[in-house]
Amino acid sequence: MIIIKSPPEIEAMRRAGAIVGQFFEEINKHVRSGVATLHLEEIAEEYVAKLGVRGAFKGYHGYPANLCTSINEEVVHGIPSGTRVLREGDIVSIDFGVVLDGFYGDAARTYAVGKISPESEKLLATTERALEKAIGASLPGNRLGDISWAVQMEAESEGFSVVRDFVGHGIGKTLHEEPQVPNFGSAGTGPKLMPGMVLAIEPMVNEGGYPVEVLSDGWTVVTRDRKRSAHFEHVVAITPDGNRILSLP
Ligand code: MF3
Ligand code: CO
Repeated sequence: MIIIKSPPEIEAMRRAGAIVGQFFEEINKHVRSGVATLHLEEIAEEYVAKLGVRGAFKGYHGYPANLCTSINEEVVHGIPSGTRVLREGDIVSIDFGVVLDGFYGDAARTYAVGKISPESEKLLATTERALEKAIGASLPGNRLGDISWAVQMEAESEGFSVVRDFVGHGIGKTLHEEPQVPNFGSAGTGPKLMPGMVLAIEPMVNEGGYPVEVLSDGWTVVTRDRKRSAHFEHVVAITPDGNRILSLP
């Protein structure tokens, strides 16, 4: 069952999402060569403490941090570490969520560390555009498959692939609710989108093939071919006249 949120509930989710969105504004300047991903985690830890919110990921199924920091061939769920140091030319996906007044916010974006290759530039731009197209398809009366198809189309038309094993999700009083929001699928299929549905749309786009595997730490997801992957995520509410992105500052 897909839980429909009332306008006041959507407003509460916007407050949670705005805190997540603001974090991405602030972490931006810390993403540079020589910085360990644990330093980014420390900034997230201070940020949630300062704002009096709870990090959404720490403790979730035993996940040990507030952030996921996934470098290059790492797709999602990279664990911040003092020994993983960002280097010029890397890309790093940062995923962050909070809980405020019982509602979840969740977002992700992939950053360039200094100057990156043209191919990596294209991967980041395509993944962000795939998310924009998916949000553009998030309209009442459309179907869930229209969102999935928009992402897949955008990624594959640039010669990239979309991850199959991890998907977006409904979000509300829990981090993951129905429905699953795959980044692949057919237009015109699946449940009809209705005002009050709130979806975390999160394209994960690979430079090479779509297969992924989980490393022995039990969390870090990497591409099987070890080519690079990018990840952008926003929380989007379906409204009577379109949609609203809830995870902007
Ligand atoms: N944005 C991811 C998600 O919604 C973050 C989950 S990381 C976890 O699934 F560690 F909390 F699992
Ligand atoms: Co998510």
